[in-house]
Amino acid sequence: MSTKDRISAQDMQEMIRLFPDLLTMAHLDDGLRERARGLRNQVGGVCLAGMGGSSIAGEICRELFLQESPVPIITTRDYSLPQAVRADWAVIVVSYSGNTEETITVFKEARKRGCHIFGVTTGGNLAILLKANELQLIPAGLQPRAALPLMFSVIYPLIGELVHPIEFDSAAVSKELKSLRASWNNDPDQTPITIARQIHNRIPLFIGWRHLGAVAYRAKCQVNENAKSPAISVELPEMDHNEIEASGLYSQMSIQPIFLRSRYEDARATKRIEATKSVLEKNGAEIIEIKPKGTSRVTETLASILLLDEVSLRLALIRGVNPLQVTRIQDLKKIMSRE
Ligand code: F6R
Repeated sequence: MSTKDRISAQDMQEMIRLFPDLLTMAHLDDGLRERARGLRNQVGGVCLAGMGGSSIAGEICRELFLQESPVPIITTRDYSLPQAVRADWAVIVVSYSGNTEETITVFKEARKRGCHIFGVTTGGNLAILLKANELQLIPAGLQPRAALPLMFSVIYPLIGELVHPIEFDSAAVSKELKSLRASWNNDPDQTPITIARQIHNRIPLFIGWRHLGAVAYRAKCQVNENAKSPAISVELPEMDHNEIEASGLYSQMSIQPIFLRSRYEDARATKRIEATKSVLEKNGAEIIEIKPKGTSRVTETLASILLLDEVSLRLALIRGVNPLQVTRIQDLKKIMSRE
């Protein structure tokens, strides 16, 4: 893929509208697929490195492969490559711009250790540093966080080749996402605008279980970056061992719990979620639930992300802020790049 593969989108509204289509606009290159397949049953583990919008696909994939992968899949959102990552590990470095210093630092350390490296980027320094058979280019032109579907449609099959083969029909998933989006208005409680109004001037607390834990984290980041507003995410069952004690202050501190529900909850998970809700309600919290959508864990994950991306966009519009710009992130990067 060359630099001509650039997506033209004017604003965040358009980038989020494109979400289902983006899933079909990047494909794992044959060369990388073959290389990854050749390493199956040989890698000691997989480590995904990336920051912010470029880390989310990895977080999601780690959760999706957790039950099946025979080797550990870990993520790093830092300068450091964990010591356990040795030469026989696959390290997947992801940076949309290709210039994020934490990610480049991890890449250099992975190279020093002799790891099997794969890189996903639009260009920048990373594209220069990676060897041709390590480099997967994806289309430029988006904000990194809006490029999640592009990154996912490459990283998910790549990890599949490395640890556990999967069927991934991106066109079918894309089609299903479009039809789920068309059905949002069928349930007035579940429309993005309704949810955005409910969290306006409040602090949303996104609560997810297993693969939806990563979605809860994504939703927190999207509210931060698109709506420039604070948000929190927690995972179940862990929150029942700490966070739950804080619920007595939720109404006073305007914290709005939002449970992300799944078709794949087992009986124990459902019992726990209902019990957690009842404790929160007893403490005066009003609960929002995002109902499960999608016919697989992958579509459920992506459909929940799409809905919550749209919620963050609606919230930005209600707040009168530009969802595209991230001036503080850019200012900070400038400060850090000075000698
Ligand atoms: C901006 C965004 C940020 C970036 C992060 C890392 O839309 O989502 O969180 O993703 O600053 O930059 P990249 O993705 O270029 O490595």
